[in-house]
Amino acid sequence: MADKTAKLHLNGQDYDLPLLSPTKGPDVLDIRKLYGQADVFTYDPGFTSTASCDSTITFIDGDKGELWYRGYPIEQLAAKSSYLEVCYLLLYGELPSPTQMEDFRARVTRHTMVHEQMHNFFRGFRRDAHPMATMVGVVGAMSAFYHDSTDVNDEWQREVAAIRLIAKLPTIAAMAYKYSIGQPFVYPSNDLDYASNFLNMCFSVPAEKYEVNPALARAMDRIFTLHADHEQNASTSTVRLAGSSGANPFACIAAGIACLWGPAHGGANQACLEMLREIGTVDRIPEFIARAKDKSDPFKLMGFGHRVYKNFDPRATVMKESADEVLDLLGVGDNPTLQVAKELEKIALEDEYFIEKKLYPNVDFYSGIILEAMGFPTAMFTPIFALSRTVGWIAQWKEMIGDPQNKIGRPRQLYIGSDRRDYVDLKSR
Ligand code: SDX
Repeated sequence: MADKTAKLHLNGQDYDLPLLSPTKGPDVLDIRKLYGQADVFTYDPGFTSTASCDSTITFIDGDKGELWYRGYPIEQLAAKSSYLEVCYLLLYGELPSPTQMEDFRARVTRHTMVHEQMHNFFRGFRRDAHPMATMVGVVGAMSAFYHDSTDVNDEWQREVAAIRLIAKLPTIAAMAYKYSIGQPFVYPSNDLDYASNFLNMCFSVPAEKYEVNPALARAMDRIFTLHADHEQNASTSTVRLAGSSGANPFACIAAGIACLWGPAHGGANQACLEMLREIGTVDRIPEFIARAKDKSDPFKLMGFGHRVYKNFDPRATVMKESADEVLDLLGVGDNPTLQVAKELEKIALEDEYFIEKKLYPNVDFYSGIILEAMGFPTAMFTPIFALSRTVGWIAQWKEMIGDPQNKIGRPRQLYIGSDRRDYVDLKSR
């Protein structure tokens, strides 16, 4: 991939740094030998200018607002594909044939139940535990229940772990929800599609028949697809870093869930809806816009801004269309929170500060409005993001494990602490 070089002149020496050419996107300066040759580190806290790996899975163009899974634009996948087909695409790199799709669906379906002993594991949590806390714990504990698929050096075990995670995360997320509201767990139904099964496990009760609304199932499935993968974001990088030490796949995914929980990342969908509720009415929007611009105020507009997207988040565009459809379907098109969101988006996009800082609605801005309309409490928004992203984390983890260049991730630092000094006895201080 290196057909060009960049020259670095440092301390009287010249160094040739290979310039790696991507399929698409910026060239990459290969600095792997820099420390060995020039005895210097590079410095990039937050990794704003750093490629941590090469990957064939997802491409993002932040300026053009493009997002591709294995080369296919997200808008086409959201409109024409299904989440389970997108899972196959992310895991194996190609769209499945009808036979491959049926086989994959059957394998996932056969793994949707969790070990019965996990029901007791849930009962160790307080009922009011945040579902993300439960999911971090239960997914991490999968390494104890599914020990026969934890050997990362065994390709078959890696494959089984991938299928188990994709199949069981909806069941675990639904169990976390049911546990938090004191309702009995609902077992998966193998005659339902992936999204319908999740809605059924969340909203059905043994006491009465529950019919999944196909339009809501379609919207749920689309939300899963929009969140499935997103290049080397914070939680994916966490999964890769955990995986680089050889940790088992369940531990790596639990680490990803923990990272995703942060309000700057996947926790933003919950924080965004809570912010929209706090704003309450359209006339209070200017007050919050002013706070977002006030450097002395830590307040940020949740659901706005993105490290990569600097024009628009293509997922937010699809999500906004879906919000209109779902709320109209549910007869809550005049939902006050949606009205505040639309007016906030309009005002912010015309405001100099947001234009200058290139702040646009991201994937989390509208998702919470749809999920709330579907009946989910805000605490379930990030667990739904986590179950959607599990396939992306697993695909990236598999790619890393299968990479012959794979080695443990171990960044260095710019040390600015004390120089060497000798210990002083307590009586002498
Ligand atoms: C996700 O990386 C991914 O791909 C993530 C994700 C995925 O699919 O995995 O897309 C999912 O995490 C989406 C982002 C969800 N987070 C939020 O909505 C929280 C609010 N957004 C911000 O916290 C922020 O925008 C980030 C964290 C998303 C991005 O932060 P960056 O890239 O580090 O940018 P920054 O914080 O340095 O902001 C640049 C400037 C700053 O001002 P200056 O220091 O230059 O004066 O813009 C300002 C920030 O203060 N700014 C905001 C703002 N976001 C950034 N000001 C007000 N409101 C905001 N939301």
